[in-house]
Amino acid sequence: MPNGIQEYYDKTAKEWAERGYTEESEIPSFREFTALLPPGGRVLDLCCGTGYDCQRFCSLGFEVVGLDLSEECLRIARKHNPGLPFYQGDMLEDYSHIGPVDGISVFAGLVHIENRDLPTAFARMAQVLRPGGLLLAAVREGSGKIDSLSISEIDGQTYDRNFIGHTLADLTAAMGPEFSYLQELSSDMSVWHAYLFRRK
Ligand SMILES: C[S@@+](CC[C@H](N)C(=O)[O-])C[C@H]1O[C@@H](n2cnc3c(N)ncnc32)[C@H](O)[C@@H]1O
Repeated sequence: MPNGIQEYYDKTAKEWAERGYTEESEIPSFREFTALLPPGGRVLDLCCGTGYDCQRFCSLGFEVVGLDLSEECLRIARKHNPGLPFYQGDMLEDYSHIGPVDGISVFAGLVHIENRDLPTAFARMAQVLRPGGLLLAAVREGSGKIDSLSISEIDGQTYDRNFIGHTLADLTAAMGPEFSYLQELSSDMSVWHAYLFRRK
C-alpha cells in the first residue's frame, strides 16, 4: 500500500516551501482575485500548504486564515507567518469553526478531490463563505486521475497523492445551488485554469 496524500505532502513540505516563497511562484490570477475582494476582508486559503499565499494575502492587508491536511506543511507555514492562524483539517470535513470569510482561494487543492466528492467540497466551502463572497479555484484540466502526477518514489518509498484533473463542467455540476460560476481568470499554463465562483 503506497503512502497517501498527507504522507506525500509531509515528506515534500520543505521543497514546496523552497519553491513557493519566491516572487515567481505567484500565480497570475492572484492579483486579479484580490482586486475583487473587499479591502481588508477575511480570506481562507484552503489547502494553503506551507503558507506562501497566506503571506501574500496578508501583505495586501487581508485577514487570512489557512487550512491544510499536512501537519508538516503547517509547521513551516507557522514558522514563516508567526501571527497567522493555521488549522489542520480535511476540506471534506466540517471546518466551519474557522468562522465566516469573504473569499476563499483553493489553489491546486481540488486536484486531490475526486469528482464524486466535489459536491461535499463545495458544500463545506458554502458553510464558511459569506453570501456574495468569492471563491477562486485553480484546477488542473483533465478527466480523473493523472497517474504521472500521482505516483512518485522518494527515498525508496512509493507515494500516491491521487492527483485528479477536472473540467469546468465537473465543477459547475458539483457546485450546487449555493454557488454561481462567474468567469475564468488568467493563467500562465494552458493546462491550469483559475475559475471564479460567487456564493449566492
Ligand atoms: C498541490 S499542493 C498546493 C499548495 C498551495 N495551495 C499551492 O498552490 O502551491 C496541495 C495541498 O493540498 C493539501 N490537501 C490535499 N488534500 C487535502 C484535503 N482533503 N484537505 C485539506 N488539504 C488538502 C495538501 O496537503 C497540499 O498542501
